Amino acid sequence: MEINEKLENLFVKEDSISQRFQLNTAIEQREYLINGQLKHWQGPVQDVYSPVYIKTADEYSQKFLGQYPLLTEKEALEALDAAAQAYNHGRGSWPTLSIQNRIKHVEEFVSRIKLVRDKVVNLLMWEIGKSLTDSEKEFDRTIAYITDTIDALKELDRTSSKFVIEQGVIGQIRRASLGVVLCMGPYNYPLNETFTTLIPALIMGNTIIFKPPKLGVLLHQPLLKAFQESFPKGVVNTVYGSGQKIISPLMSSGKIDALAFIGSSKVANILQKQHPKPHRCRFVLGLEAKNASIILDDADLDLTVKEHVLGTLSYNGQRCTALKILFVHKIIAERFLEKYTDAVEKLKFGLPWDEGVFLTPLPEPGKTDYLAELVKDAQKHGAKVINKYGGLTNKSFYYPAVLYPVNSKMKVYKEEQFGPVVPILPFEDIEVPIKYIIESSYGQQVSIFGVNSDMIADLIDPLVNQVCRVNINSQCQRGPDTFPFTGRKDSAEGTLSVTDALKVFSIRSLAAAKENEINKEIINQIVRERKSNFLSTDYIL
Ligand code: G3H
Repeated sequence: MEINEKLENLFVKEDSISQRFQLNTAIEQREYLINGQLKHWQGPVQDVYSPVYIKTADEYSQKFLGQYPLLTEKEALEALDAAAQAYNHGRGSWPTLSIQNRIKHVEEFVSRIKLVRDKVVNLLMWEIGKSLTDSEKEFDRTIAYITDTIDALKELDRTSSKFVIEQGVIGQIRRASLGVVLCMGPYNYPLNETFTTLIPALIMGNTIIFKPPKLGVLLHQPLLKAFQESFPKGVVNTVYGSGQKIISPLMSSGKIDALAFIGSSKVANILQKQHPKPHRCRFVLGLEAKNASIILDDADLDLTVKEHVLGTLSYNGQRCTALKILFVHKIIAERFLEKYTDAVEKLKFGLPWDEGVFLTPLPEPGKTDYLAELVKDAQKHGAKVINKYGGLTNKSFYYPAVLYPVNSKMKVYKEEQFGPVVPILPFEDIEVPIKYIIESSYGQQVSIFGVNSDMIADLIDPLVNQVCRVNINSQCQRGPDTFPFTGRKDSAEGTLSVTDALKVFSIRSLAAAKENEINKEIINQIVRERKSNFLSTDYIL
């Protein structure tokens, strides 16, 4: 069957979907977690629809998935009070608890959420259209991230459990919590990227208010009980609803001590300005990116094409790390384009649970129109869609459009498309891609493809000063999660990795004393009799 025919038949009747993935009852979520209580919401709710359409006798409609509460300023401030009370200016039981005990709570949480893996994976597919393989990966990667975080914390704790004596001063230097942390993740990794900030913030002794992203909300519902049962009251609180209504009052209260936000720089700017004393709030931000790839004239074509398929189109290009603009040397351009478009044509598209599926429907309302507009604008300025069926649309599904040759007059040259549109520019002078990267508003990563080590070395040295990861013959990516993940310019603030995240949500604090007999005796007593969790030489194995 030709691609266009297959595309026409993409959406099917509900009973043709395997029983295993069918969602028979909608999730009518009314509960939200504040101060250890799962409260029941009686106010307005938000309907949630899937990007997957269901075929009925004579029409197609988006599958209704359920509803979640649209809380107001009042509940948001209740969540803030609960988190602030649990923190109690650093005197609460959670921030003063030993690391070992905090780890126990997190381990308990992990064992509880593992039980709802299938539910969460299924909701990831229905809510954001992520393929089964990628949804399972997202869940498992999150569990691995949590266990790696626990190991990294033990390591950190071991190195800080000793005293330092310097210039007649005895000191014990550890990391202490910051206070109330507001965590907001993005829709493309609603579980993983929320938890890569929430868990480190939590385990370092902060208390949390957590708002799920706009899309990918219901998949957090099966985790609510686990939060409630694993942590003391007020340590984790959840809020739902419009950012303007519930996040603005939180930020303008001045009581948020750290904001972990993965989203757009536009929203991040607004939130930063809302805090009355921004220097009192630590901002940990993962924002837009427009990662470029530079394909040199001697690149290994098979490897380059393979990495570009992943880099440009994994999860339909909806990754902050996706390759969003390609610079290909003129000498190799024609061969690259041919092989790349052939590879794109072989990609399987379908519904998230279809076996081997790579391309799936897009969850953002209006996204296919936006992508079509980008393509139209590029065509107006001289680009062509060079792959057969490129840009073909069926409701929420957009078939990848490969654009060539792209130039600086086109919107897609600068805008982060965050979807399956692939802009490609030819170049002869290496200054062309370098200039692009320098002038870009973003500075997350870059990929270089080629085999000449002199040429690659000449590019690495200046480019590490423009972006935060230079990938050689490899697509851009965040992982492994132990590697630092950050960006320059409008791409990020703060560094995340398993270890960096523990540091970013804590501050170095120390107990110090001049080395004299009285002080030595006091310290010895505290340590010997285990009077303090901070001033202690205990370490966790
Ligand atoms: O959306 C941005 C993600 O952090 C990218 O992660 O490179 O593992 O897909 P990834």
